[in-house]
Amino acid sequence: MLYSTALTALLALPGASAQLNKLAKAAGLLYFGSATDNGELSDRSYVNILSNTDEFGQLTPGNGQKWQYTEPSRGSFSYSSGDQIASLAASNGQLLRCHTLVWYSQLPSWVSSGSWNSQTLTSVVNTHISNVVGHYKGKCYAWDVVNEALNEDGTYRTNVFYNVLGDSYFALAFKAAAAADPNAKLYYNDYNIENPGSKQAGVVKIVKLVKAAGAKIDGVGMQAHLIVGSTPSQSAMQSYVGAGVTEVAYTELDIRLSSLPSSSSGLAQQANDYGTVTKACLAEKACIGITIWDYTDKYSWIPGVFPGQGDALIYDSNLNKKPAWTTVSSVLAAAATGGGGGTTTTRATTTTMVTSTTTQGGSNPTSCTVVQWGQCGGQGWSGCTVCAAGTTCQVGNPWYSQCL
Ligand code: XIL
Repeated sequence: MLYSTALTALLALPGASAQLNKLAKAAGLLYFGSATDNGELSDRSYVNILSNTDEFGQLTPGNGQKWQYTEPSRGSFSYSSGDQIASLAASNGQLLRCHTLVWYSQLPSWVSSGSWNSQTLTSVVNTHISNVVGHYKGKCYAWDVVNEALNEDGTYRTNVFYNVLGDSYFALAFKAAAAADPNAKLYYNDYNIENPGSKQAGVVKIVKLVKAAGAKIDGVGMQAHLIVGSTPSQSAMQSYVGAGVTEVAYTELDIRLSSLPSSSSGLAQQANDYGTVTKACLAEKACIGITIWDYTDKYSWIPGVFPGQGDALIYDSNLNKKPAWTTVSSVLAAAATGGGGGTTTTRATTTTMVTSTTTQGGSNPTSCTVVQWGQCGGQGWSGCTVCAAGTTCQVGNPWYSQCL
């Protein structure tokens, strides 16, 4: 069996079952990350998994950097919530995606209900961005500069910024962010833009608008708050690259079940959908990473906002890995080792790591070897169950056993 240097290094690492970021990087992505929030950081078991850089290479504060927290009253800045997560990421050695600067929601009423003219609101936006981005200068891999500025039909959402400044507020915000931290990647971020349609066309328009105004825009963030059964496509990403950004990312991925309690077939479909999103990112060279909107159902925002729906993440409420974790891991592992996974790019430079001399289809083949970290068992598993020398097949959850 031949291994590339990169794969050899990957496999030489101590066998930990936590591995999504490690595999994502081996597959050519920059990170696999998670959002988190301040209230959860007192949960030790939760933080242990969150801080494992084999599992998560990037954090996003779920709330603490939003306007309502950073500038709750005019000219009065507070960074304690955002700083807590920025510090955690820094001490763990994780990238930080910073979120978000100009957004109609979680915006204090002094901004949304103020009586502004274009001059005064321009000053408010500039002051906010220069302070907040300045505070985090050098710490943010990326900033979501403008968030959710589009209606579903692709027209601009009515909000205080648009009402007073028209579409000029996009370039204003991107210019201010670039001035305050020239090295941060600057993103437009929105939901329901993972597939072609009116809203995706609206994003293309925004990217072109910002660039035409001479401002820097580096990326488009596809939030990807999806419902089980929906699947994103690569063509939306390609349209953003065509409009002039150099990178795209899935920034807030969760895939909710529309009715609870979840059934095993629902969880299986969810796993499949998570795999589809992962494959879509791997297939697009410009897609640099995937961030899930927290990693466990214990702390998901979904049930609070979409009553009766949920179980949207890849770990359950007891911090056990779900089938979706298994699928993401398998897709990343396949891409990392050149073993498939739907990729069409040349991200991974490694050679095949799993050998199997019998076809899969019901009975588990025996004349085969699963290398370290590969799947070797679990409900419905019909693949190889023999672990490579030095590793043993260990149960992760009912659906997934792994050679460790
Ligand atoms: C959500 C947070 O997760 C919740 O805690 C908060 O109550 C509302 O906002 N799109 C975004 C995120 O850009 O900032 C939102 O986060 C989820 C939707």
